Amino acid sequence: MPTHQQYAQKLVTSQEAMQFLRDGDVIIVPTAAGEPPSLLTALSEQRRAFRGIKIAQILAMRNYPYFDPETVEHVQHVALFFGGASRLCGQAGWGDFIPNYFSEIPLMIERGQITPDVVFSMASPMDEHGYFSLSLGTDYTMAALAKARAIVLEVNPHVPFANGNCTVHISQVTALVESDGPILEVGLPKIGPVQEAIGKHVADMIADGSTLQIGYGGIPDAVVMQLTQKHDLGIHTEMIGDGIMTLLESGAVTNRKKTHMPGKMVATFALGSRMLYAFMHRNPMLEMHPVNFTNDPYIASQNDNLMTINATLQVDLLGQCGSESIGDTPYSGTGGQVDFVRAANRSRGGKSFIVLPSMAKSDTISRIVPVLSPGTHVTTSKNDVNYVVTEFGVAQLRGKSAKQRAQEMIAIAHPDVRSELRQAARQMRLL
Ligand code: COA
Repeated sequence: MPTHQQYAQKLVTSQEAMQFLRDGDVIIVPTAAGEPPSLLTALSEQRRAFRGIKIAQILAMRNYPYFDPETVEHVQHVALFFGGASRLCGQAGWGDFIPNYFSEIPLMIERGQITPDVVFSMASPMDEHGYFSLSLGTDYTMAALAKARAIVLEVNPHVPFANGNCTVHISQVTALVESDGPILEVGLPKIGPVQEAIGKHVADMIADGSTLQIGYGGIPDAVVMQLTQKHDLGIHTEMIGDGIMTLLESGAVTNRKKTHMPGKMVATFALGSRMLYAFMHRNPMLEMHPVNFTNDPYIASQNDNLMTINATLQVDLLGQCGSESIGDTPYSGTGGQVDFVRAANRSRGGKSFIVLPSMAKSDTISRIVPVLSPGTHVTTSKNDVNYVVTEFGVAQLRGKSAKQRAQEMIAIAHPDVRSELRQAARQMRLL
């Protein structure tokens, strides 16, 4: 049957699309801007008609009515990484989460450890060959498509048709709904003097011709702003945002010197402004790939001089990073942090930077601590961590002894807390 006829046959309203759900289903929703608002709104409205539905997603951004402690027996969010909308349900305990390395979620799906029954995803309009592009959240969605009983796409004309391994054919799709609202947008964060100082420290250690992975959060973007005067940078990253687009426009990124996929930028999900989404549309320089490709440390490390920049919340004197919880209170998730720290460690000439302001909560709490707060979820281990950067400088930890690490870490803590940290280090026999 011609593809346009298949399209017409499969087109339903978002309310009608709920007929493809069964009690107990796991619905896989892509990362961030790839979440389909019409479908999730319709599910929210009809949630009391179902029992035991779980929504598994990284970085839920919009606060749909299904985020409701009164109706969790009907529909519950099970985060793969908490975002702004899902954080509260994780912290209050009526949501749940599945620990993971982002790169391994597709493998967990293939092996049946996560079992997608249904995929709900944003998609570009269909092309002349019958393909849709899942450019906003390619990530684990491609693996879920191969396993799901039902695939429901929300087709929106503002979703870019990107190149790469991010397409699905109409013949594979169960149902389609259409929407035309703007794609979720986020702006670049405000950069203060602390972020700027961290950005400068990192930029000083990045040579022309390096390949970059830029993590999620305010400071990685601040680093990007310090790199606009560099030359021939390349991009092999997880999230493509406006920061990377700014680097490209400044002429700093050419991708020419990349030793893996030269000439191409690689990413797995997109989150930024409408300019970013327009930039992604049929751009021959960009490829969107599943996360088991972009974040696999062995693949990413084929980029020589891979520089990875990721944020954390708290670091101890050995360099253990608690990037995803504050004590036992979940905040975000592991995401691709460990994937890219390990990739940089393996890359010839690679460097992994873990970045954080020295203090939190209006300069009342040191983020460099003798031991992590009780219950903290350790993200990057002492065995993987290398450069840790605050506004006061750079600690280089890989290959260093426990005692050397304590000295390096104290040197980048806020001057007001250094003597306290020294005292604690002595008690821990680290000095
Ligand atoms: N004690 C108490 N509160 C703390 C704290 C600490 N040690 N460290 C941070 N906080 C508070 C901050 O004050 C801030 O609160 P506020 O919003 O009320 O000011 C909040 O926690 C977030 O801290 P911040 O440094 O602003 O985080 P961020 O927005 O830059 O995000 C994360 C950092 C969450 C993205 C990062 O830690 C993370 O999740 N990393 C793992 C994932 C990753 O790196 N992925 C990379 C591939 S994309």
